[in-house]
This record gives sequence, C-alpha cells and structure tokens, in this order.
Amino acid sequence: MMHPWAPLLLAFLLAAGSAQAEAKAELAHGAELLAPFKRELKATLTEGLASGPVAAIGACRLKAPEIATAHSRDGIRIGRTSHRLRNPANVAPEWVAPILAEYVTEASARNPRVVPLANDRTGYTEPILVQPPCLTCHGEALAPAVAAQIAELYPDDSAVGFRLGDLRGAFWVEFANPK
Ligand code: HEC
Repeated sequence: MMHPWAPLLLAFLLAAGSAQAEAKAELAHGAELLAPFKRELKATLTEGLASGPVAAIGACRLKAPEIATAHSRDGIRIGRTSHRLRNPANVAPEWVAPILAEYVTEASARNPRVVPLANDRTGYTEPILVQPPCLTCHGEALAPAVAAQIAELYPDDSAVGFRLGDLRGAFWVEFANPK
C-alpha cells in the first residue's frame, strides 16, 4: 500500500524540481543578457590600451557608463559595482549590496546568483575577478603617469592595490520575469 504521505512527498519533489529548473533558466538568462555588455567593455578596454594606459583610462571613463546605459533598455538594467569603488556612481544597487558583501568575505560563494525582486523582476549577479590586464590600473604598483591620471580624475579612488585573482566587484542585471 502507498504510504499516506507519498502524494505529498511527490508534490513537494515536483515543486522543488520545477523551482530548481526555473532558477537554472534565470541564471542562464542573466548570463545571456550580461554577455554583450562584458564583450563591449572588454573591446573598449583593449582598444583603449592599444593607445596606452593613460588614454585607456579616458576611454573607460567616457565609454563604460555609456555602454551600461546602452544595454539598459527594454526593462533591463545592467551595471557593474565594487566594494572598492573607483567611480562613486558605480555604487551597488540595494539588492546587490548583500551579495557583494558575501562575495567579499567568502571566496567559495563567488558564483552567479539570481534573486527575486519587486514588481515581478529578477536580479542576476556575477563576481568580477582581477585578471592580468586589470593590474595596469587596479594593481599594487601603477606606472606614475597612470597613478597621476587616476588621482586627477578619481580623487576618492579605492580601486588600486588589487592582486591577480582578487575579487574586483560584481556585474549585475535586472530583468522582468517571463509572462
Ligand atoms: C586603463 C585602465 C584600466 C584598466 C586596464 C582596467 N580598468 Fe577598471 N576601471 C578603470 C576606470 C577609469 C574605471 C572607472 C570607470 C567609470 O568612471 O565608470 C574603472 C572601473 C572599474 C569597475 C567599476 C567599479 C568601480 O570601481 O567604479 C570595475 C568592476 C572594473 N573597473 C574592473 C576592471 C577589471 C576586471 C579589469 C581587467 C579586466 C579592469 N577594470 C581594467 C580603469 C581601468
């Protein structure tokens, strides 16, 4: 005879399974929305660096916010933030702050996340780690001309002194849930 709780257990497992599938789909959607933003930022940085790091700082300063705005449309908002900001305008949205704090304290927690937001929306985050080219402008030993340019443009800069593999910050995306 079937255990009296079996249908309940089955319903629970099915619900858990579908919630898991939903989270997986949301993670994939967030990553997909973020990909062109990341590509464009990288291309701008590479292009800028071809003219030298000081010129690249100017390119980042002008283009990075423009790229974020260009990708924030059709109900999608996209950006990048950090626990150690260069540009104070990149401060984390409220829902990103606790995830960023977890990324900072827990290296093993540095994986993509989805969280439910108000108004039937979803948030997606991804950690940003320091790679070799980042050290030119975010590392421990900057060239004097680079340091001078950063100090001039970003008097409150907290985004130097990073090492390879350190957490640099997080990408975030907000999108509407599918109907
Ligand atoms: C040529 C210098 C330069 C290089 C190289 C560089 N950055 Fe930056 N980075 C900047 C500047 C300038 C800003 C501020 C842009 C702005 O005003 O929005 C910035 C901002 C950021 C931010 C936004 C948060 C904040 O602190 O304002 C993140 C995240 C970031 N950089 C990560 C990286 C990563 C990861 C790499 C390597 C792949 C990298 N950067 C390489 C100059 C650089």
